[in-house]
Amino acid sequence: MKFTSVCKPGLGALPAIALAATFAASVSAEGDENAAWDRAERRAEATVRAMTPAEKTILTHGVMAMPPTTTPPDAVPGAGYIPGIPRLGVPALKETDASLGVAYAAGLRNDNATALPSGLAMASTWDADLVETAGRMIGGEARAKGYNVMLAGGVNLMRDPRNGRNFEYFGEDPLLAGTLVGHAIRGVQSNRIIATIKHLALNGQENGRHFADVQISEGNARESDLLAFQIGIEIGQPGSVMCAYNRVNGHQACSSDWLLNRVLKQDWGYKGFVMSDWGAVPDLQAAMNGLDQQSGEQLDTEVFFADKLAAAAANSPAWARRLDDMNKRILTAIYANGLESHPAQPGGAIDYEANAAIAEDAARQGIVLLRNRDNILPLAKSARTILVVGGLASTGVLSGGGSSQVIGEGGPAAAIPLGGTGPFAAFARMNYHRSSPLAAIQAMAPQATVRFRNGRSVAEAAAAAGKADIVIVFANQWSGEGFDHADLTLPEGQDALIAAVAGANPNTVVVLQTGGPVAMPWLDRTAAVIQAWYPGIRGGQAIASVLFGETNPSGRLPITFPAGEAQLPRVKLDGFDRLEPDFIGRKPEGAGPLPVDYDIEGSDIGYRWNARQGHKALFPFGFGLSYTTFETGGLRVDGKTASFTVRNTGNRDGTTVVQVYLTQTPRGRQQRLVGFARVALKAGEVRSLSVPIEPRTIAEFEGGRWQIDKGRHAFALGASAEDLSAEVPVDLAARRWK
Ligand code: BGC
Repeated sequence: MKFTSVCKPGLGALPAIALAATFAASVSAEGDENAAWDRAERRAEATVRAMTPAEKTILTHGVMAMPPTTTPPDAVPGAGYIPGIPRLGVPALKETDASLGVAYAAGLRNDNATALPSGLAMASTWDADLVETAGRMIGGEARAKGYNVMLAGGVNLMRDPRNGRNFEYFGEDPLLAGTLVGHAIRGVQSNRIIATIKHLALNGQENGRHFADVQISEGNARESDLLAFQIGIEIGQPGSVMCAYNRVNGHQACSSDWLLNRVLKQDWGYKGFVMSDWGAVPDLQAAMNGLDQQSGEQLDTEVFFADKLAAAAANSPAWARRLDDMNKRILTAIYANGLESHPAQPGGAIDYEANAAIAEDAARQGIVLLRNRDNILPLAKSARTILVVGGLASTGVLSGGGSSQVIGEGGPAAAIPLGGTGPFAAFARMNYHRSSPLAAIQAMAPQATVRFRNGRSVAEAAAAAGKADIVIVFANQWSGEGFDHADLTLPEGQDALIAAVAGANPNTVVVLQTGGPVAMPWLDRTAAVIQAWYPGIRGGQAIASVLFGETNPSGRLPITFPAGEAQLPRVKLDGFDRLEPDFIGRKPEGAGPLPVDYDIEGSDIGYRWNARQGHKALFPFGFGLSYTTFETGGLRVDGKTASFTVRNTGNRDGTTVVQVYLTQTPRGRQQRLVGFARVALKAGEVRSLSVPIEPRTIAEFEGGRWQIDKGRHAFALGASAEDLSAEVPVDLAARRWK
């Protein structure tokens, strides 16, 4: 695949010398990868020439591989199946969700599968290598279960903290999210299977997701959501891209000539194929507009990409050429990843112990310490009485719902149906993984008396809290595909529970398991807060490990926690007042359009919006505490690289994430993350680092080109988006490129 980037981002925390060596190695690896894609493409062209007309509409469509649909005997139950062409040695495509592990597929897969922590937990690590390892692990499981396509690679930016699918993705920043998703994809595809970056693009809310019509200018889209995809595609080279349900500037994303043909295929030179999201194809014309494959076809109003497509190709040279191109792209992805030469077969060996350790490591590194009054954490192993309250902490840890749901062996520890009707009612179930935080806490403090109150009675929990040395309250917010949150309030009266418990005992530690940001009206009364996200199959152990200091927390927020809905560009989520049980499905009869104006914030999402508006977040992007302290300094910027020193000034080993922000351009104040480095430092250790600056983060996208203005720019180091060092001015030369 051809790269359009000038600089390869995301090399992480490496000393300058190592960085230079890695840079050279990655440039040559990039060359090899490009050559492999070119060879795959030539081979695909030859296969297309050998195809009969009837064979040309085999790869272009397929079913959701679940009952009641009857699938061929070689199908593996899961998200999708596309038949192969045995005569030409082309394998069937066997597709599984998704980014957090091999999905449960509505209970069809109740064999074991390793659940990673949520995407936001992994993004909180800011650790490309760790995310790549996690991707390699889940891709390995997919392959061992017989799948050769993993629908993994979700990278929709968090434009709204109430979006029910935020937990699947990598946060609000295009550089961070794009870098991490690229590495996740690399990991998955290292198993010789195809990964799928999704959902292209601007799929920022679930409410009305089939017809929400995002309004956004080209420049704003390119500098934000599309930049995340662009970087992710450059790094990961996914075999496929999944287009989104929603509309963009009046067109269904899966039938958007601008998104699919012009941006993705023409400007970015993408050579793989575009598959539809399940039930997102409006008509046959979508093929001309850039869609290559109709997925989950029984969910669309018609199968457009079979007989209708064949007839169009028989009658029109333009359609015949397009059909050949669709086949070429699907075959290129198959050959580039070696699906035909290294077939995935069910029954492969899986080391679940080793895989759970990877999931646990990701959870430990992704937990964010938000508050730690008087260093109450880490808890002393000598604490005598510990009261654990709420959150089903004696049972397990929460996971997010929907197509990405992964369930381990033996099923969930608890599955609590939320009820409801409509197409997504089956997804409305809070599943808890079998990893009890209570048991893990007790294991960490064997001499302590650890008690549990479920928190259903606030008075009972508060009374018990008064008698304990330490109280740990678990507060949960379930999120899932198909549902958005009405607001940022923790559900089920948990705010009152925390307030009462913290009122009864000042040594109250709150552990949040949420899909995204929540409001914390009780914050000042608590001693400590940790954000554990959805922590995955070994989440209980990871939480205990952080609470007791076996893991020194190093997670940094990949999203902004707003101080309230009033700070958001859209104070109310669009369409929420029109919510019907099946509102996320096709547009209800008589319902008007649902425009969603993303030009309000434009490319300034999250912390960038806050900087523009002068808002102070509850917790800013990039924020996270440690059990040690760090100091950064000596920033030097030459426009391509930022160099600085970082020192561990405390007396514990620890890991920090140094963030480099643009703060000023010749046009005015402008805050953007331009580079970052995650670095582990022994107590007292100091290191000099240098990180590449991603040029597109200092540019504007105008008139079809990236442009850096000539003149004064300023940069700063950040411990978060709101905790910046003194600015360093740099005069940059003008630059324009495609
Ligand atoms: C989701 C996709 C998923 C697909 C297949 C859709 O509902 O939006 O992310 O990959 O289903 O299960």
